[in-house]
Amino acid sequence: MEEIKRIAVLTSGGDAPGMNAAIRAVTRAGVYNKLEVYGIKRGFQGMIEGDFIKLESRSVSGIIQNGGTILQTARCKDFRETEGRKKAYVQLKKFDIHAVIIIGGDGSFTGATIMSKEYDIPFIGIPGTIDNDLYGTDYTIGYDTALNTVVSAVDKIRDTASSHNRLFFVEVMGKEAGFVALRSGIACGAEAILIPEVKGQLKKLSESLARRGKQQKSSIIMVAEGDDEGRAIEIAAKIQKEFPVFDIRTTILGHIQRGGTPSAFDRVTASRMGVAAVEALLDDQKSIMIGLVNNEIVHVPLNKTVKLHKDVNRELLEIADILI
Ligand code: F6P
Repeated sequence: MEEIKRIAVLTSGGDAPGMNAAIRAVTRAGVYNKLEVYGIKRGFQGMIEGDFIKLESRSVSGIIQNGGTILQTARCKDFRETEGRKKAYVQLKKFDIHAVIIIGGDGSFTGATIMSKEYDIPFIGIPGTIDNDLYGTDYTIGYDTALNTVVSAVDKIRDTASSHNRLFFVEVMGKEAGFVALRSGIACGAEAILIPEVKGQLKKLSESLARRGKQQKSSIIMVAEGDDEGRAIEIAAKIQKEFPVFDIRTTILGHIQRGGTPSAFDRVTASRMGVAAVEALLDDQKSIMIGLVNNEIVHVPLNKTVKLHKDVNRELLEIADILI
């Protein structure tokens, strides 16, 4: 393998708070190890278009506290095509980039896995998505901040719920997974949590509401956007039809979950992962993701992170069942 002297870093897929801390860590660890570091703008789209910028230590000053990503990000359709990846490779060669660190989620890692099979470019992944749905890591960058955002929003919603004795359906992100809904639901003391990983929850909810009858007190029902029963609006409509007496409202938290100041946990995790990614490259590693398992940095084959499914924490499911 070619000696690594020049690396590139990019963010891809949905932005997540803490991505800037990871860019900063990769850049500074690179400079510390006497590497030249380039930032690729707008994810794989910028790779295809040759939108590269030189990063120095000072380029990443004052960004650790900011949400979003200074490199911007994209969901790139062209990179799914052979032709797109060929163009991207031409640009990497033009800038004489020897390895790429990619901060993103499963879609981005799928692209990186395919390209690393086609071309001899080492890719190292850093998990960055609020969804936390990546195999091989307990936490992804942005998840902790998103949880705190949900908790503070739902605490406010609960004021109205209890003042008006209302049933609130709160939809949180997670198009295929219930990590945000489950953990934030426990933290908010939700009265029910509907996630794609657990079937038959709507029936259970309607039975419990029937038991309460007119005695219904204010409640928060946390719904993952990818739940099998449908989006929160549809679920709320079904429940309203079944229980016309209930005063029901629905709130979709949406993209407020993706923005904002990263939590201390996300900043530190991103910093650890960024440094570990550079060290892995210098150690001749390729096609791996840096993960965090039991608070230790681990290396996970990149193809496993996209092939294998990460299940929600069984202990949290049991806790939720007991406490609800
Ligand atoms: O980043 C992942 C995610 O937050 C999903 O949970 C959500 O469905 C999706 O992004 C929304 O993506 P976009 O901003 O592209 O609409």
